[in-house]
Amino acid sequence: MCGIAGFITNENTDSKGKAVQTVFNQLKLLEYRGYDSAGIAYIDNHEIKVIKKAGRLTELEKLVPNTPASNIAIGHSRWATHGAPTDLNAHPHYDRYEHVVIIHNGIIENYLEIKNNLAQEGHTFYSDTDSEVIAHLIGKEHSDGTSLEEAVKQATKVMRGAYGIVAISKKDPDKIVAAKMASPIVIGVTDTCSMVASDIPALLPYTKKVVILEDGDIATLYPNNITIIDKNGEIKEPEFTEINWDIKQAEKGGYEHFMLKEIHETPEVINQCLSGRIDEKNIIRLEQVFSQQVWGEIERVTIVGCGTAYHAGLMGKYLFEQLLRIPTDVYNASEFRYSQPVLSSKTLAVIISQSGETADTLAALKLCKENRIRTLGIVNVVGSSIARECDKTLFIQAGPEISVASTKAYTAQVMVLILLTLHVAQIREMPGVKIPEALLEIRQFSDKIKDLLLLEDDIRDLAKIVKDSTLLFYTGRGIDYYAALEGALKIKEIAYMHTQECSSGELKHGPLALVEKGVTGIFLSNEKQLNEKLASNIKEFKARDGQVVCLASYLCPQIANSVDKYIQLNGTKCVYLDAILSSILLQLLAYYTAKELACDIDKPRNLAKSVTVE
Ligand code: G6P
Repeated sequence: MCGIAGFITNENTDSKGKAVQTVFNQLKLLEYRGYDSAGIAYIDNHEIKVIKKAGRLTELEKLVPNTPASNIAIGHSRWATHGAPTDLNAHPHYDRYEHVVIIHNGIIENYLEIKNNLAQEGHTFYSDTDSEVIAHLIGKEHSDGTSLEEAVKQATKVMRGAYGIVAISKKDPDKIVAAKMASPIVIGVTDTCSMVASDIPALLPYTKKVVILEDGDIATLYPNNITIIDKNGEIKEPEFTEINWDIKQAEKGGYEHFMLKEIHETPEVINQCLSGRIDEKNIIRLEQVFSQQVWGEIERVTIVGCGTAYHAGLMGKYLFEQLLRIPTDVYNASEFRYSQPVLSSKTLAVIISQSGETADTLAALKLCKENRIRTLGIVNVVGSSIARECDKTLFIQAGPEISVASTKAYTAQVMVLILLTLHVAQIREMPGVKIPEALLEIRQFSDKIKDLLLLEDDIRDLAKIVKDSTLLFYTGRGIDYYAALEGALKIKEIAYMHTQECSSGELKHGPLALVEKGVTGIFLSNEKQLNEKLASNIKEFKARDGQVVCLASYLCPQIANSVDKYIQLNGTKCVYLDAILSSILLQLLAYYTAKELACDIDKPRNLAKSVTVE
């Protein structure tokens, strides 16, 4: 979940001498991946120089102007796993002879064993990281004149675990070498330079044609071309993928934070997500997923994801069960792997991940594949590991999501689940599912969200009340409960507020004991037929001196008269769409509360966007 960047050019280009600055700019575009320390290595006058600093990139930035012109550099922004975020633990790391430096994402599981062996041979280590052993292994192989790429290849034979590695050498100074195993590496090549990164946004200012490495690949980058050797040691032709993301999508575009920008992108994201998927005869076109026959065979669905993707999965459960009557389980990916899940040939595993690289989710997917069950990915990043490894993948088409707190991707994940379940409802001819009515609402949904965003000022005012609460309850019934869970995660992630999330019916079975003066309950009310029950829950909450805020597309008079504040949203005829609308308001509430509390919204403490360690 750290950021990797690398850049190489030559003397005859406009970019000559700008490698360090370019790599720094790339790191800025990757800062969301990890940001407790950062560093850059470059070659100057036949020597490798390293600048690195604990803290935000602004710390490293102070050192950049003092670096000389260089045509080759690699950089890293770290999110600590082994060893505290200190200057010494920051990457890049040197080998024993200071001939080689490396940067690394992932975890080397047998690093202690390697470290002990190398220590016995006289190697000295200066950091607590697992990554430093990689530099030493490569340096050892490279010291006898072996080429850098061959040395990297030999080193990877000794290592066990996940890695995206990028290395440069002063003895082989005209190339960058990158290796990949279970941690993403993308490469871009133009007429004048080549570059490498852990994520596509770092390449977007330079090129949209990228090569996505596969596990076991070792790539060598020269100023305007690359070569790749695959896991069997065979040379392979680089396969370029055209990325249709706009660099503007990866910039703030006038918004104060990526999170706010991404929430405001939601109407457009919904249009992109629907694009080409519903035809003029109201048929949902997802035939590329599974055939009619396969859908007829599926008797159980198992959904797996982490964090926000898990919460989208809960919405999926609602949809699969309510629209299709297919029993559905939802697992946190970290639990799934060790829970001996019951899987059969009639189970479909739906794997949800924005990044497509989350290690726990990837491990869960591998378990599904070992059990030979059908797998369907719902993923944002094209070419990501999960997208590639699933039998079939539906892309949510949300564009790059930079803010750690997921917003537009969540909405698009749920929208894809809605389309998928309606598609299967068409195939299975499910009685009682009003598909034309739903599609009418879905076609207008982007505009509905635009209208919803007009409530932003009301939410900003609400944040002023919410921020002073000692504890926040997030609650609702039916599908609203699932939306409430995601709302609570958002405010926890970015405003660091304590939340108690539960279904409203469960309040009296324990959580109510926490309600007192100073506690606020955020109640969602979209489930019309449960409104009266919800009204009783609200009364119980108020009777304990709790303050009640209600976000509602439907509000019975009983509720309207008893809450302290309510925000009425203009709903649809589909409760699952209304639940999405509530979620978007809760994203805004988290945003404005975090802003009131002066939190670092796009980079919440202790969290990272893409968690590529288990
Ligand atoms: C991290 C992020 C969350 C995200 C989760 C799953 O915990 O902080 O925002 O929901 O990973 O990420 P994925 O890329 O698999 O959706």
